[in-house]
Amino acid sequence: MDGSIKVQGAKNSALPILAATVAVGKPCVIHNCPRLSDIDATVDILVSLGCEVKRNSNTVYVDSSNLDSDSISDALMREMRSSVIFMGALLSRTGEAELTAPGGCDIGIRPIDLHLMAMKKLGIDVTEEYGRIRCRRKGRIKGAKITLSFPSVGATENIILASVRAAGVTTIINAAREPEISDLAKFLNSCGAKISGAGESTIVIEGVDRLYSTQFYIIPDRIAACTYMAGAAVTGGTVVLDDIVPAHLMPVIPCFEQSGCKIQIGSGKLKITAPERLKSMQTIRTMPYPGFPTDCQAIVTAMASVADGTTVIAENIFESRMRHTVELNRMGASITVHDKVAIINGVEFLQGAAVSSHDLRAGAALVIAGLCAHGETTVDNVNYIDRGYEALEDRLRQIGADIKRV
Ligand code: EPZ
Repeated sequence: MDGSIKVQGAKNSALPILAATVAVGKPCVIHNCPRLSDIDATVDILVSLGCEVKRNSNTVYVDSSNLDSDSISDALMREMRSSVIFMGALLSRTGEAELTAPGGCDIGIRPIDLHLMAMKKLGIDVTEEYGRIRCRRKGRIKGAKITLSFPSVGATENIILASVRAAGVTTIINAAREPEISDLAKFLNSCGAKISGAGESTIVIEGVDRLYSTQFYIIPDRIAACTYMAGAAVTGGTVVLDDIVPAHLMPVIPCFEQSGCKIQIGSGKLKITAPERLKSMQTIRTMPYPGFPTDCQAIVTAMASVADGTTVIAENIFESRMRHTVELNRMGASITVHDKVAIINGVEFLQGAAVSSHDLRAGAALVIAGLCAHGETTVDNVNYIDRGYEALEDRLRQIGADIKRV
């Protein structure tokens, strides 16, 4: 495949920022917001809480001035588990939040014990009954020092959102360092918040009394960028990605170079030139940022499936994020999985087959595999893919892929 692709705005930045508009309480305009079903679900929640939302292409206008609820229905919570991020935003704004414990999903049980521990440290009363979680603060939320036993992205975001308007200072020790955390902090600071250290392991939030309107541009989606890079890698093409933040791709670029791809970075652009045949990437282990991202694990597994040699990939973040290997093996890959480690013996080529997506990134990995397989591949459950990729088939077709939605 050859050509250039504009990378969408980051889903995992847009979701917490849209929730954060509830804490702001004034009109906010968010640009470069990707058109995804997860965004639709978040907008449904905002509207159910009484917010006014207007959307035009990749711009979303949210005015939460007339918020009239602090409870998110079971049905809406089931649409998207990461809606748990509304907990902190609602507590900041109303002092109360009622939502459903987010159920497990295809990649793991997704507990929120770290979120709830942190809310209690902030003086919030948390009760859990019949699957519903009710949070209530007694008086104004008071800042606290909170240490996370694991740098959870969602827990870090919920702490920031719950403490942004608290009395006093909140310090997060062992915070997640993902770029989406920095983007959330940048958004809130543009509304008048006082957050420092985002992107590092210690974040300090000095509570402020109120927040103000803002206009904001979401960062590009580093996981979508990696997906398109993998599409170029497995089809031996040269692809230019428009709109990337080079630093956000540093955790994955070494793997692409090890596989024989040539990467050139310009201002906000990345050019990838793939070799005739990929080489093994040796060993990859997923880690919290700035380590190799778990969201790219299935995608590089698809790459390794057709590389020359053996690649070992260890999944260290989620407990069951290897189901795509079963589908890849149905396409002729040679992958064995032991617990959370995949051993991938590269084959000359994959064969087209009918395969199923089990989660968002697994679905993307199967599309990548289909791009280079001999014969036709059909990927079902594309609703998973639509949660995180804006117009995936259009963007891939732009660079020469023979792909269509049926
Ligand atoms: C965010 O999920 C992302 N989602 C995920 O992307 C991403 O895979 C993950 O971070 C890791 O980078 C959004 O941002 C919407 P975590 P999150 O809390 O916040 C355990 C995608 O494909 N944990 O860092 O849920 C948890 O079980 C999605 O776009 C606890 O044990 O991730 C997991 O094993 C998938 N207790 C690990 O930590 C808690 O209270 C990482 O979870 C919270 C988390």
